[in-house]
Amino acid sequence: MTKIVGYRREDAGAPPSAFADYGSTGLRAPTEPLVRIPPTLTETTGPAGCWDRLTGPAAADLTTQHAGMPQGQRIIVAGRVLDEDGRPVPDTVMEIWQANAAGRYIHARDQWDAPQDPNFTGAGRVVTDADGGYRFVTVRPGAYPWGNHRNAWRPAHIHLSLLGPAFATRLVTQLYFPDDPLIEIDPIANAVPMPYRQRMVCRLDMDVTTPNWALGYRFDVVLKGRDQTPFEDDHHDD
Ligand SMILES: [Fe+2]
Repeated sequence: MTKIVGYRREDAGAPPSAFADYGSTGLRAPTEPLVRIPPTLTETTGPAGCWDRLTGPAAADLTTQHAGMPQGQRIIVAGRVLDEDGRPVPDTVMEIWQANAAGRYIHARDQWDAPQDPNFTGAGRVVTDADGGYRFVTVRPGAYPWGNHRNAWRPAHIHLSLLGPAFATRLVTQLYFPDDPLIEIDPIANAVPMPYRQRMVCRLDMDVTTPNWALGYRFDVVLKGRDQTPFEDDHHDD
């Protein structure tokens, strides 16, 4: 029998749709009660088990996608996707996107005065293994200004999207770095109250770090429950 995968939109620690200090949420947050549309088999049953075939080859190393090495500090980001009981969640598509080391995205709307890097696209994708594990090699992204308020700068961050067994199970969040003083004055990070905010901060891990090659950071994603990672309710451009 096919299992229907239900999910709630409002989980503990999730940021609110409208958050006054994060200006653009005022334009896109719903002003009317949400209309609940019961999920159907189409959204909830597929394409579990087929992600590898659908997504093509993994793109786990963002530093080898072009002719040369990108500028900046090479890092490894690794961890596991876990359920509320700490069990690994395999076969989850994890996609990341990020700015380059100077804080600039490859995007037509990103026009601030920081250099593009011809050796860095800033996008990667893997499928978690049988142990729920994933591993990316990338460069540490830079901070960038975003015009939300006077002198607004986003802390260095990596965007993450996770697709579980079905298209309706997409979750989106951001990863921050533990030594970044911009986090505590960032309205997007602060839309998630403490202590939940801390679950979006990776940690330096000398077991992930590779000697003489790259610093390693661990970031486990918990899908539900007491230790859940806060997820956004929609796609955020910033
Ligand atoms: Fe961003």
